[in-house]
Amino acid sequence: MKYRAVIFDLDGVICSTDEYHFAAWKQLAEAIGVTDFSRADSELQRGVSRMESLEIILRKSERRFSEEEKIALAERKNQIYRSMLEGMSEADLPGSVRTTLFALRERGLKLAIGSSSKNTAFILERLGLGGFFDAVADGNMISRGKPDPEVFLKAAELLALEPCNCLVVEDAVAGIQAALAGGFGAAGLGGAAKFEGTTYPLSSLSDLLAIVT
Ligand code: BG6
Ligand code: MG
Repeated sequence: MKYRAVIFDLDGVICSTDEYHFAAWKQLAEAIGVTDFSRADSELQRGVSRMESLEIILRKSERRFSEEEKIALAERKNQIYRSMLEGMSEADLPGSVRTTLFALRERGLKLAIGSSSKNTAFILERLGLGGFFDAVADGNMISRGKPDPEVFLKAAELLALEPCNCLVVEDAVAGIQAALAGGFGAAGLGGAAKFEGTTYPLSSLSDLLAIVT
């Protein structure tokens, strides 16, 4: 078997926190007078770090912000986002995701998370997945965000596996680019399924079971 592990992105793959990201950024955008922050803009934020996501909004503002102000804005968004996450529970882990995770583990695959989010541990805890994964690499452990492969290389290192033996699952084009740059297989959901570089386009997470046989 070529793949010995699956490394999952978190937001938009394991859970629908991508919707909360959008709602929280929208709220922040409106507070600083950016009224045309759209879902198309939000697509560009998929997979990229918090500060880079902020820049995508600030491009739409006529005001110029200092580095200190930017840090404060990112923190403000994170507080809005965290209050949304507080309401999450195990019920927010889709049954099909749970079933797929257990089926993959049953087949002997190692399972890991490779996420840009600094809220990864909190989200996994809310979903009842604290301690479930064999390795978790997140935004607190890296200095370069996707499309740089650093977070996936960190996950592979924690698993003690070569990238070519790990399959990355992503909903973001930046994440697919990161996976390919690191020498990983790349499976894509949603927008990432339509991206030309994606090795395995998925219509649902359970399609993985046909790839890693
Ligand atoms: C990624 C999301 O998973 O995490 C991005 O796709 C987000 O939209 C990034 O900006 C950072 O998340 P956080 O939770 O650290 O603000
Ligand atoms: Mg994602």
